[in-house]
Amino acid sequence: MMKITVFGSGYVGLVTGACLADVGNDVLCIDIDQRKIDMLNRGEIPIYEPGLGSIVHANTEAGRLRFTTDIAAGVGHGLFQFIAVGTPPDEDGSADLRYVLAVAQSIGEHIEEYKIVIDKSTVPVGTADKVRDKIEETLAKRNKNIGFDVVSNPEFLKEGAAINDFMKPDRIVIGTDNPRTTELLRTLYTPFNRNHDRLIAMDIRSAELTKYAANAMLATKISFMNELANMAELLGADIEQVRLGIGSDPRIGYSFIYPGCGYGGSCFPKDVQALERTANQIGYEAHLLEAVEKVNNNQKTRLFDKIEKHFGADLNGKTIALWGLAFKPNTDDMRAAPSRMLMEALWKKGVTVKAYDPEAMKEVQRIYGKRRDLILCKSPEEALDNADALAIVTEWKLFRSPNFETIKQKLSSAVIFDGRNLYTPDDLNKLGFTYYSIGRKP
Ligand SMILES: NC(=O)c1ccc[n+]([C@@H]2O[C@H](COP(=O)([O-])OP(=O)(O)OC[C@H]3O[C@@H](n4cnc5c(N)ncnc54)[C@H](O)[C@@H]3O)[C@@H](O)[C@H]2O)c1
Repeated sequence: MMKITVFGSGYVGLVTGACLADVGNDVLCIDIDQRKIDMLNRGEIPIYEPGLGSIVHANTEAGRLRFTTDIAAGVGHGLFQFIAVGTPPDEDGSADLRYVLAVAQSIGEHIEEYKIVIDKSTVPVGTADKVRDKIEETLAKRNKNIGFDVVSNPEFLKEGAAINDFMKPDRIVIGTDNPRTTELLRTLYTPFNRNHDRLIAMDIRSAELTKYAANAMLATKISFMNELANMAELLGADIEQVRLGIGSDPRIGYSFIYPGCGYGGSCFPKDVQALERTANQIGYEAHLLEAVEKVNNNQKTRLFDKIEKHFGADLNGKTIALWGLAFKPNTDDMRAAPSRMLMEALWKKGVTVKAYDPEAMKEVQRIYGKRRDLILCKSPEEALDNADALAIVTEWKLFRSPNFETIKQKLSSAVIFDGRNLYTPDDLNKLGFTYYSIGRKP
């Protein structure tokens, strides 16, 4: 049993805290958001993440997982002090380290004995040095000399599969400059490292860069496919055939080469941007990263462009049924979601959106509030009623095999704009639909 404190009870912090408690540790989760902590203390889970609720409940009941806004108690509790707060984009796209450094300051203000401070947030290379400096500076003001180590331990979990990813990680990256700390972290992660050794120890800067490298590589694969999809449309080729053709090469593989209406979420867009800013700061021109971002921003307008091309520039008074709001299935997260760009473009043109998502209905209301041109529907079918066309933005399982007869009956014209290539064009054409997808002939 180890004593662990986790700062930040969001997607990463809450999953980290819950999973570490689940293997027997004593975990105290800290957040500055009183509302979130109150919810957690009432047994409510502030986010949608499959399987998270039952782990949180089991471990709170067992007394191994607690939540508080008491920062001093947090610093006092754990030998391991995880930082899992947000690192949103700053005005210029670089990672905003305000929250990470606020935690470092809190640790400096309250530390009384040796601690291991672990950066789990995604942070630019050099942040561990900043965290160390901030703690030292705060300790100096207190005239105290207390030992601590700073470790980089980036998180690779995927929203929607976060519990499984944390419990069975494909890698555990530990960046330290102290071999003793590496061993302590090895012990901490032993329960998640039983099948074979997944722990990769390296220097701190390399660990920090590894996280950005992973996300930038995945984003690059998506943008590459989207670029090819756009070309396929112009060339009369079918990108889905091309996908199968290249995925069969083991050097390329089938993962992450689905064309679509762009990547979103809380990680890829901001991490690619932050890495670009890092490149700028060191005087390096990151041509590839810039292109990845540009292609993605362009891709997020593709569905709107298709809608405008089909109906003509005057869209005023039209209604579009929208299936999917979350940036991907199995989450309620709408940060940088392609659905947002589409809805905002449609609203500008006077279009009403009738939206349905299995999990993100509360989130869309939180972001946009009540507005006349956004109708929140209780089912996919309800969204179709009297709509002029259907647009699909998130590939939830529920949308994969719908009743096309119902769709045709309910829509005032049988038109589908599919941003995730869920259906086969020939089948839909036979059923009497005008079907637009990505990288395939209409
Ligand atoms: N979401 C993901 O899938 C994912 C995956 C890997 C890495 N990451 C990285 O992990 C970090 C956290 O991401 P997230 O999605 O969990 O963010 P999030 O916004 O869901 O949660 C961050 C939490 O930190 C809290 N917070 C802010 N300042 C605080 C402070 N001083 N003390 C305590 N709590 C504080 C916020 O109130 C919020 O609840 C980011 O750097 C992100 O890039 C995210």
